[in-house]
Amino acid sequence: MARLAEGVRPLHIGQCERLRDLDANLAVADQLVFQLSGQPGIAHTRIAFANNQSRHKEIYVMDYDGANVARLTFDRTIDILPVWSPDGKAIVFNSPNNPSGKVFSRAELQVIADLCIKHDLLAITDEIYEHIIYDGLGHIPIATLPGMADRTITISGISKSYSVTGWRVGYAVASPELSLGIRRAHDFITVGAPHPLQEAAVTALGLPDPYYVHLRESYQARRDLLLGRVEEAGFVAYKPRGAYYILTEAEHFLKRFNCRDDHEFALYLIREIGVATVPGSSFYAHRELGRTKIRFCFPKTDDMLIEAGRRLQKLAR
Ligand SMILES: Cc1ncc(COP(=O)(O)O)c(C=O)c1O
Repeated sequence: MARLAEGVRPLHIGQCERLRDLDANLAVADQLVFQLSGQPGIAHTRIAFANNQSRHKEIYVMDYDGANVARLTFDRTIDILPVWSPDGKAIVFNSPNNPSGKVFSRAELQVIADLCIKHDLLAITDEIYEHIIYDGLGHIPIATLPGMADRTITISGISKSYSVTGWRVGYAVASPELSLGIRRAHDFITVGAPHPLQEAAVTALGLPDPYYVHLRESYQARRDLLLGRVEEAGFVAYKPRGAYYILTEAEHFLKRFNCRDDHEFALYLIREIGVATVPGSSFYAHRELGRTKIRFCFPKTDDMLIEAGRRLQKLAR
């Protein structure tokens, strides 16, 4: 069981090498937990540190859905301090972000790192869109900032980078002390990621750099395509810098089409326009903040995006 949680041997070794390439200071051999999917990674991590025996016994979650994504700026104090709790033990965030497409800059990550160090907090980060990043920006794992390697749990996976979203193979990287609890939670809950999928992940993780360049470029072209059509249709769109979603403000449409909220408008879009979206409120801890927002996604063929864009123009009339 332990071996499965560590990942099949070539996968484990391959990923350790990749992480070391990222930052020579990350000595990751005992720090990698392969698991079933990135999403449960957060759950395993929370469970691991909800344990009363643990030094980090309560986790306070600060995720971006608590902030006002409409601004899409990371204010040094505004976004973190209103949700601050003296019992907090960790800051949880996701960059590149689903649904906003925000990519945290080094300066922003430094603010989080400073808070973690000052208040003895963990950073739990979901970096599953690490390779899907636009406009020449680079992904910066917070674990690579000074003083953060031992207090960060980095969660990622293969589903987005290799377009295998149904496979649910993910991993967490943390110090040996922190990863022990995650391994235990993982062993009891999911036991291990399916072995054949881990073997396939070995091949995926060995893909050369041009693969990632193509991945970024092809998603960026699709972002630009859909963004243009969504704006032409009259949505107020937040240009994503990473991940593959476009979050939009649709309050004026709600009024015009007599929809009470984002759910009703999403149904209207399916029935009357023929385009499926996700209601914005589903991403918010305080659902009211997303009540007028709609999320589009663009990991689709050009033809499909062009057709969706054509249908959306019906709204513009
Ligand atoms: C931010 C984020 N984390 C994790 C996941 C899921 O990862 P996995 O495919 O490994 O379950 C998603 C998928 O939508 C996601 O958007």
